[in-house]
Amino acid sequence: MKEITFPLKLIKILSDGKMHLGEQLGELLGMTRVDINKHINTLCKWGIEINLIASNGYQLTKKIDLLDYEKIYNLVRSGNIIIKPVINSTNQYLLERIDQLNLGDACIAEYQTAGRGRCGRYWVSPFGCNLYLSLYWYLYQGGPAAVMKLSLVSGIVIAETLNKLNGSNIKVKWPNDLYLNEKKLAGILIEMIGKTVDSAHIVIGLGLNIAMSCNYEININQGWINLQDAGIQIERNVIAGQIILKLRHELVQFEKYGLIPFIKRWHVLDNFLLKKVKLHIGDHLQVGIVKGINEHGAILLEQNGKIVSYIGGEISLRPYS
Ligand code: BTN
Repeated sequence: MKEITFPLKLIKILSDGKMHLGEQLGELLGMTRVDINKHINTLCKWGIEINLIASNGYQLTKKIDLLDYEKIYNLVRSGNIIIKPVINSTNQYLLERIDQLNLGDACIAEYQTAGRGRCGRYWVSPFGCNLYLSLYWYLYQGGPAAVMKLSLVSGIVIAETLNKLNGSNIKVKWPNDLYLNEKKLAGILIEMIGKTVDSAHIVIGLGLNIAMSCNYEININQGWINLQDAGIQIERNVIAGQIILKLRHELVQFEKYGLIPFIKRWHVLDNFLLKKVKLHIGDHLQVGIVKGINEHGAILLEQNGKIVSYIGGEISLRPYS
């Protein structure tokens, strides 16, 4: 049996949030208390917070809403949805299988051992409390230039989907973050292979903070927030299903009509529209007032009375303070 089989059985039992005695867990899984303790340690390494009660009972600090294939598939109703409890990175998983994928196939994980963010950063991915979702897409035209646009379209679709589910006011930050209450709620990482002038295989990776505890603060380089702390309660399986469904639909619209129909929608959601920002472009810094995006997906800044567009490479935007 694989090393992760018993920890996964254990988390299934503990996910109800109730206290479970070590002996009972041992009986259920056919092992000694020492073995249970070993598997509890594995769960802790995966980032699951467990309280030890009266030296013999185990209880999660909060209930876990485990990923459920049936619930997600019932919303999506087509294509492949791959659910992995433990994986290096959902983006990596799809990239390695690109030849076997169909448009819109998705991979979701409970825990990523090597989750990656933009600019080579690590994406903190504890078990069961966030959404780590990747979706495969194929662009027939536009090639690498279309990737920036696709990133913006993905941000719009994900923010709108979440807002519709909950009536919340989630915003976007150019080029690929979701913001809530002026803090980062989610990041999108688009990766591609086999790029030619026109076509490209794309993986859209979303990391969405849902219920991550503040213990992870030290590993994250900017202010962040999760849905739960903002009082937003939506089941993780519903979020996953709705996002896959909406992305599949809207990416087809994007391929047909391009970015232009999405520009107004971006402006409605833009957290920094008409605000003063700093734009870091490599070692250079640009300061200006955000005036939205153009048809190429570039950010528009008003600088000394002129509108200047910026796009591509390692650009990051921060509020001016
Ligand atoms: C960012 O830096 O803001 C983008 C973060 C993207 C993280 C997601 S989690 C699912 C997918 N798999 C990964 O390894 N990364 C993306």
